[in-house]
Amino acid sequence: MHIFREIGPMKAYLKRERSNLSTVGLVPTMGALHAGHMSLLHASKKENAITVCSIYVNPTQFNNLADLEKYPRTLDKDIQMLVATECDAVFCPDNSMMYPAVSQLKFDFGALDKILEGEFRPGHYSGVALVVSKLFNLVQPNRAYFGQKDFQQFRVISRLVEELKFDLSLVCAPIVREVDGLAMSSRNMRLNAAERKRAVILYQSLKQTRDRLLQGESFSQLRKTVATQCNLNNVKLEYLALADRENLTQLDNITDPSRAILLIAAQVGDVRLIDNLFLTENSN
Ligand code: PAF
Repeated sequence: MHIFREIGPMKAYLKRERSNLSTVGLVPTMGALHAGHMSLLHASKKENAITVCSIYVNPTQFNNLADLEKYPRTLDKDIQMLVATECDAVFCPDNSMMYPAVSQLKFDFGALDKILEGEFRPGHYSGVALVVSKLFNLVQPNRAYFGQKDFQQFRVISRLVEELKFDLSLVCAPIVREVDGLAMSSRNMRLNAAERKRAVILYQSLKQTRDRLLQGESFSQLRKTVATQCNLNNVKLEYLALADRENLTQLDNITDPSRAILLIAAQVGDVRLIDNLFLTENSN
């Protein structure tokens, strides 16, 4: 596997590959890789001649310095996992490579980046859009792979690609879960044993709300129930939202389940977790 810490050699490698008409898949990550990332890599390997994984903890998408500092960094282990998956190249730049000067560039996606995560993490999606634009320009992939767990991120990046006419296809891969249902996340490794047990309440809340909504119960009542259950489990619910899958506008109730998604965010200890579930998704 090629390991690139600098832009020039990576671009030269990709130019050579593209001259052989190889298609390129990009899996952008912030490292601390887990089975969820591996599923993105497998999808890319199936669909492209070359798969590039980027590992970069992007400071501009953190609105909280403590969160940035505590974000897990496990580069050596990540590289071993990428070698084992037969990933072709990893791009792991440092800050001076990605942001040689302080960037003033801001993105505004209207309502889409102000609601849900945007409300709790102001500026987050502007930073995501900035770094993803840089990665798309540097790698020029044919396809780029993102996880459904960050579904709002996927919607923001879809808008970015549409508006800036990036010539690539986006793939949204299903959430990979632990045996008890907790969505895989790099942040899970920061949970202690007791928090890890309590964290499953996010998925349980989604499933319970989905089932009871489909039986005709009111969403506002179900949200109150989840808030109470989270409280009792010492989990701080930030939001439980029912939204339209396409534009994420919030719904009071479901008219068409195939268009609806439930999204949740909560703090377990000092770890912030998110998850979501399509209303028509099969799960136990
Ligand atoms: O989803 C992530 O890991 C990050 O937000 C991304 C897309 C790699 C941008 O830093």
